[in-house]
Amino acid sequence: MSSTFLNLIKARRTHYGLSKVSTVSDEKLRSIVEEAALHVPSPFNIQSGHIVLLTGKSSDKLWNDIVKPGYLKKFVGDEATTNLYTKKINEYAAGYGTVLFFEDTALLDGIAAKIPPMAPYFPVWSENATGMLQFVVWTALANEGIGASLQHFGAYSEEISENVRKEFDLPSTWKSTAMMPFGVPTGEPGHPGRSKTFNAIEDRVKVFN
Ligand SMILES: Cc1cc2nc3c(=O)[nH]c(=O)nc-3n(C[C@H](O)[C@H](O)[C@H](O)COP(=O)(O)O)c2cc1C
Repeated sequence: MSSTFLNLIKARRTHYGLSKVSTVSDEKLRSIVEEAALHVPSPFNIQSGHIVLLTGKSSDKLWNDIVKPGYLKKFVGDEATTNLYTKKINEYAAGYGTVLFFEDTALLDGIAAKIPPMAPYFPVWSENATGMLQFVVWTALANEGIGASLQHFGAYSEEISENVRKEFDLPSTWKSTAMMPFGVPTGEPGHPGRSKTFNAIEDRVKVFN
């Protein structure tokens, strides 16, 4: 039923306040990301989307030992900015785990070489495909009572990306597209005191018969 599906979608929000608690087992978390990876579509079914699921010490290591020093080194700022980003990254580190999303550029380059007229479009299709995958995982977690947010530290810094690949022994062709820290939420979604707003739907959706 589409209404059931849309209700599942509405349950997904951005949660920054996270705890080191999961409502489901690590096995169930693995099954959620595996099902998403299997069934979310990709251009020409090349299955360029790849996922790394981190929990426990591995997720802590990502945020505390790779992202935090890498980000603060790249974006050297004044004390206030440093404190702000340290606080934000500590929030992501406070979660139960992190889902890392990648696109395998070897697969994308391979298919682009086989179909030269389509080659210019693969980078955009790759971004579309990883977005679909991220959305499905985010929504599936939300429907297990798990909060998450979407971060892009791999894109901000090649050094962070490289250190992630090194730490988790990933192929050099895996391009980081997003990092999703998750855990049972400690509070309301979004930024404190700011409710989510919606632009007029008539301006966004047109229907013609
Ligand atoms: C493509 C994309 C990129 C985003 N990047 C970030 C990000 O870098 N940091 C962040 O905190 N939220 C990020 N968000 C989350 C949005 O800010 C959030 O989804 C939006 O404000 C709507 O709020 P909701 O998720 O609670 O519905 C991103 C969302 C999308 C779809």
